[in-house]
Amino acid sequence: MNSIIQKEKFGFIGCGHLGFAFVQAFLNSGFPRENIHISYSGRKSTHEKLTQAGLKDCLSTNDAILINCDYIFLFVRPDQLGNIDTSHTKKDALIISSLAGVSIGELSNKFQKDIIRLMPTNPDSIVSGSGICALYPEATKIKALLHKLKIGLIPINKESGFHCFTALSVLPAIILQSELLSVPVDKKKILSEYPGYTSIIEWAFSHVPSALTKNEKISCISKTATPGGITEAMIFSFKNKKSIMDAIRDGIKRSQQIEEGLS
Ligand SMILES: NC(=O)c1ccc[n+]([C@@H]2O[C@H](COP(=O)([O-])OP(=O)(O)OC[C@H]3O[C@@H](n4cnc5c(N)ncnc54)[C@H](OP(=O)(O)O)[C@@H]3O)[C@@H](O)[C@H]2O)c1
Repeated sequence: MNSIIQKEKFGFIGCGHLGFAFVQAFLNSGFPRENIHISYSGRKSTHEKLTQAGLKDCLSTNDAILINCDYIFLFVRPDQLGNIDTSHTKKDALIISSLAGVSIGELSNKFQKDIIRLMPTNPDSIVSGSGICALYPEATKIKALLHKLKIGLIPINKESGFHCFTALSVLPAIILQSELLSVPVDKKKILSEYPGYTSIIEWAFSHVPSALTKNEKISCISKTATPGGITEAMIFSFKNKKSIMDAIRDGIKRSQQIEEGLS
């Protein structure tokens, strides 16, 4: 692992909520700054955020990352993937995608390479070393990397398991929303309806941030809610139907819709 940390180049395509959290986790875990390469789409606030974090020297382009990096993490939104030209991707690079709902089949077609899907819990949990993720297929190098980043691993045995995992992994945000609306949430019911996902449900209930002000709760929810994504669909559902079971089902449905290419 030490030689990987010192020698390999890590590329992060997209540095919004989740990408920035991973970059911070890498730096906190001792990965040298000069091996971190970041691209984004030009938003001024992202440039300011990266400058303030002392990461200006890590700024790169998609092309440079795809040509040079050994590990390439995709942290753009599913609808932004089409803007990335993948024709020059380094032959032996590992491509790791955290795009919720985007299948290995679709990504393999785009990159003409094997793809590893990594679905993490919320950005704050990744930075603080209390996060977990689902990984598919199992990849020894990525497992070692996650261990170094202090990110736990929940194995899933088939790709379709990502739909449930993703919806259940964002429960901390939905529980915060339930607190804002004063609607109780029944953990036992969730555990009984999703028996194969006990670990992620237990993780979610033990990682709801406590003692937050109303504004802090809103900010925390917004970091998890990628526009057009699964959390956003679940928050919308919860606000309208006031039911956690409906919100989970609507989140799973949204993940399936993204996979099927429905907007
Ligand atoms: N947030 C979560 O809790 C979470 C959890 C699990 C999985 N995910 C997945 O992670 C992905 C990112 O989510 P997010 O919440 O971090 O979204 P986000 O905050 O909107 O970040 C997206 C990032 O991608 C950049 N970008 C857009 N087009 C690009 C391009 N063509 N080339 C390079 N960079 C580009 C954006 O640049 P600008 O900064 O310039 O706009 C931004 O930095 C999504 O696919 C989501 O499904 C998110």
